[in-house]
Amino acid sequence: MLTLGIESSCDETAAAVIADGTHVVSNVIHSQIDTHRRYGGVVPELASREHLEKIESVVATALQQANVTAFDLDGIAVTQGPGLVGSLLVGINFAKAMAFAARKPIVGVNHIEGHVYSVAFEFPAPEYPALALIVSGGHTNIFLIHEPERYELIGRTRDDAAGEAFDKVAKLIGLGYPGGPVIDRLAQRGNPRAIIFPLAEIKDPEHKLDFSFSGLKTAVLRYVRENAIEPVSDAVNQPEQILDLCASFQNAVVRALVRSLRKAAVERRPRTLILAGGVACNSELRAAVKALADELKIPAYIPSPIYTTDNAAMIAAAGYPKLLRGECADWTMSADVSLRLPNVNVVTPANKKKVRYRL
Ligand code: KG4
Ligand code: ZN
Repeated sequence: MLTLGIESSCDETAAAVIADGTHVVSNVIHSQIDTHRRYGGVVPELASREHLEKIESVVATALQQANVTAFDLDGIAVTQGPGLVGSLLVGINFAKAMAFAARKPIVGVNHIEGHVYSVAFEFPAPEYPALALIVSGGHTNIFLIHEPERYELIGRTRDDAAGEAFDKVAKLIGLGYPGGPVIDRLAQRGNPRAIIFPLAEIKDPEHKLDFSFSGLKTAVLRYVRENAIEPVSDAVNQPEQILDLCASFQNAVVRALVRSLRKAAVERRPRTLILAGGVACNSELRAAVKALADELKIPAYIPSPIYTTDNAAMIAAAGYPKLLRGECADWTMSADVSLRLPNVNVVTPANKKKVRYRL
């Protein structure tokens, strides 16, 4: 069964063809980073315009590389939300037009669920329950996945997403956008113990797995001011002070993420650990999650970077079981910027009150 995936929720225009939910036949990604870099972040208006310019050629290339036409597909999966409304609409309307013309079923996919499915291509089907840490520029969530498509949100950020913290700190010290990859690179040459940034504690026992990164960002800002650290333009030849700052900041983010993941794992005894989303490219985080999985004696599913950052193969994989069941959205399907995953809200002794989270 051939599924076409289309992704345009933020600053990547992407299309992919996958076979039987697990085999990537083609995977095309047009990144808009060069457009947004000079503004230090994604400019929504420019993003939707560029999606509009690129969507047709990106989808055509994905079909060509797979050696198929729209008529050979069994269904189309498109990101419905969450994301930027103008950007989402470009992908959704293109997908709907294609589905209408080729008479194919179409399903809307939650972008976060897409990230969960980014493990579909390089690993066997996970054993459940699986514990997933999804960390990107817009989201930082821990899900306990009881079985396919049954998610219990057990931890989330209270303020900034982890990737957002990387991007803001990089901007602050003049390292450009996106911040994650450059901080990761520089951190490898710095001392992670040079500055001990305290981790935020969430006091509320019902939300003890939640994260907060805004205090860390402020602590970095204070450190930069107190030590009169000047932004530098050369991304390679950074002074030791910047290398140590990057290493210490990254180490604090990783410690915070892994601390909650460990608590969740000890309490909920998962059989698979999943790490996905753009921040899952981070070398220190990958190593820390792998080490945690080894300690728990369970497998760590950490996809290759091409599948952890935004792509359409993961959207196709998340849409596949829905298409297989015969689901099909109607023509009124539209963007939902704050689309949520249904939360199974399993009641445990530690979580008697049912809580509905906003993803
Ligand atoms: O999943 P993604 O491509 O887009 C969203 O859905 O947000 O994630 C992008 C985020 C950016 O904030 C970027 O700085 C971060 O992922 N990122 C990293 C690394 N590579 C990308 N963060 C830390 N270390 C990295 N190596
Ligand atoms: Zn994403």
